[in-house]
Amino acid sequence: MAELFPFGFSAATGAYLSLYVLTLALHVVLMNYVIAGSAVVALATLRRRSAGPSPIADTVRDWLPFSLGAAITAGVAPLLFVQVLYERQFYSANLLLSHRWMAILPVLIAGFYLVYLQKTGWIRQRPAWLRVAVAAGAFACFAFTGYSWTENHLLSIHERDWSRFYASGALLYYRPELIPRLLFAFAAAFPTLSAVVGWQLRRRADAPTTRRLALLAALGLFAAAGAGVLYGETLEAPTRAQVRSPLAFPYLVLAMAGAAAQLAAWVVQWRSQRLRAGWLGVASAGAFLSIVGIAVVREALRLGSLDLAALSAEHARAADAGGAMVFAVALGLNFLLIAYTVFLARRCRAGVVHE
Ligand code: HEM
Repeated sequence: MAELFPFGFSAATGAYLSLYVLTLALHVVLMNYVIAGSAVVALATLRRRSAGPSPIADTVRDWLPFSLGAAITAGVAPLLFVQVLYERQFYSANLLLSHRWMAILPVLIAGFYLVYLQKTGWIRQRPAWLRVAVAAGAFACFAFTGYSWTENHLLSIHERDWSRFYASGALLYYRPELIPRLLFAFAAAFPTLSAVVGWQLRRRADAPTTRRLALLAALGLFAAAGAGVLYGETLEAPTRAQVRSPLAFPYLVLAMAGAAAQLAAWVVQWRSQRLRAGWLGVASAGAFLSIVGIAVVREALRLGSLDLAALSAEHARAADAGGAMVFAVALGLNFLLIAYTVFLARRCRAGVVHE
C-alpha cells in the first residue's frame, strides 16, 4: 500500500480499521496490566518469605479482579470490529481451532476465581506452596489466553495452512513467528504496568519502589525491542516489506518514539528517586503511542496477506446495514450509566451515603 494508514482504503474499510485499532489499543492497555501484573504478583508470592512487603505487587493484587473485568470488557469492541473486518478469516480460524479455541472461556473463568482468591484472608493463612500455586495459576490462565489469541490470529491470516491443519486433526497451530510474537507481547506489557502502577502509587512510593518501577519498564522496553527484532527475522520477505511500506513505517517510527519517551521518563524518575506527575504523563503518553503504533504495524502485516478488494465490498455492505442510531443511543446510555456509577462510588467513598 502506498498511503499512510488508514488512508488509501474505501471509506467503510478505513473507518472500521480506525475503530478497530483504537479499541484494540484500549484492550491492550488493560490486558498489559493483567498479564504483567499477574506475573509480578506470582514472582512476589514466590519471594515473599525472603523479602519484605512489596507495594507494587500488593497494589496490583488488589486491582487484578477489576482490571481483568475491564480488560475482558474492553476486548468486546475490537472483537466486534474484527468480525466485521475479517469475517471469513476470523471465523475460519475459530472453527479450525474448535474446542481448543473455546477453552479460553473456562480458563478465563478459572483465572477470575484465582485473582479473587489471592485477595482473601483465607489464602494468606495457607501454606506458601498453595499461595504460589494460586498466583502462578492465575498467571498461567492469562498467558494461555494471550497465547490462544496469537495462535488464532496467525491461523486466520495463513489461509494456505487451513486444509492441512484441518486434515491433520491437530489441536495446536504453530508457526515460527508464534514464540517471538508472544515474547514481544509479554515484554511490552511491563512498561504499561509501570506507568499505571506509577499513577496508583504516586503519592506513597518510596525510592526503592520508584526504582523498581523504572527497572521493570526499562527491562520490558529492551526485551520487547529484542523480541521485535527476533520476530522480524521470522517473517517472510513480502510480509517484512509490508512493515517498510508507507502504510506502516511511520507508525513503527511512532512506536519507537513512544518507547524512547518512556525510557527517558523512567531514567529521570530513577535518578530523582521520585514519581513525578509530569514524567508519569510522558511515560503514559509514550506507552499509548507505542501501543497504537504497534497495533497499526500488526494490522499492516495482516492486510498484506489478504485480498483487499473482496474485503472492501463486504465492509461497504456492513456499513449500509443500518443500526447506527441504535448504536449511538446505546453508547450514550452506557456512558450515562457509567458516569452515574462513578458518581455513586465517589459519594460512598466520601461518606455522603449512609445506610
Ligand atoms: C486476560 C485475558 C486476555 C489476554 C491476556 C489477551 C491477550 C491478547 C493478546 C496477546 C492479543 C494479541 C494477539 C496477537 O496479535 O498475536 C489479543 C488480541 C485480541 N483480544 Fe485479547 N486477551 C484477553 C482477553 C480477551 C477477551 C475476553 C476478548 C474478547 C471479549 C479479547 C479480544 C481480543 C481481540 C478482538 C483481539 C484481536 C484479535 C485479532 O485481531 O485477530 N481478548 N488479546
